[in-house]
Amino acid sequence: MASFNVRPATDRRGILSRPEVPTVRSLLSALRSHDPYTYRHSLRTVRLSLLLGRACNIDTHARLRVLSLGALAHDLGKIFIPGDVLHKEGRLTGVEWEAVRQHPLDGARLLAGVAASEGVCRVAAEHHERWDGRGYPAGLGGERIDFNARVVAVADAFDAMTSVRAYGPALGYEEAAAELERCAGTQFDPAVVATFLRAPRALLEAIIGC
Ligand SMILES: [Fe+2]
Repeated sequence: MASFNVRPATDRRGILSRPEVPTVRSLLSALRSHDPYTYRHSLRTVRLSLLLGRACNIDTHARLRVLSLGALAHDLGKIFIPGDVLHKEGRLTGVEWEAVRQHPLDGARLLAGVAASEGVCRVAAEHHERWDGRGYPAGLGGERIDFNARVVAVADAFDAMTSVRAYGPALGYEEAAAELERCAGTQFDPAVVATFLRAPRALLEAIIGC
């Protein structure tokens, strides 16, 4: 594994500048109107994924570009989830939960429709798959899950846990890190979690605090 880069995880090299990006950005602005929390979460997930991806030896410009765009667009399919379901406090009904479970494939279809690369579509489609094969939508497991999607899954979970949400208070770094460690090898790729847990805490807090 590579070591952590102490440079801020920003897009100085123009990673997010492919031709499909303006269209994805337009879709993201629709998501911003529909669900401002998920929009801001997506921006933080890009920065966390870049930090983690580089430490996992994703080191070429092309691969980092796919990872960044995939992280940015991973929850795009939430555009189709009704607002009252997205922002509901408390337990979802079976029907509501089914609507939520559609968002990975809905997002991947949207991205395919604007000619995003297969790698970007796979991040959207597979970011809720689990290492133990009990995730959704396809029940993939282990290395059958796209590697970028495994990186984004950890970044996504860390940001979600450390953010204030409708259904719960924000966890601190220690609690969120402990939860990732607890779920390594079941929900998450254990090697990706091990790398994440070596990230300097100050770098992570700078990202989730912004
Ligand atoms: Fe998601």
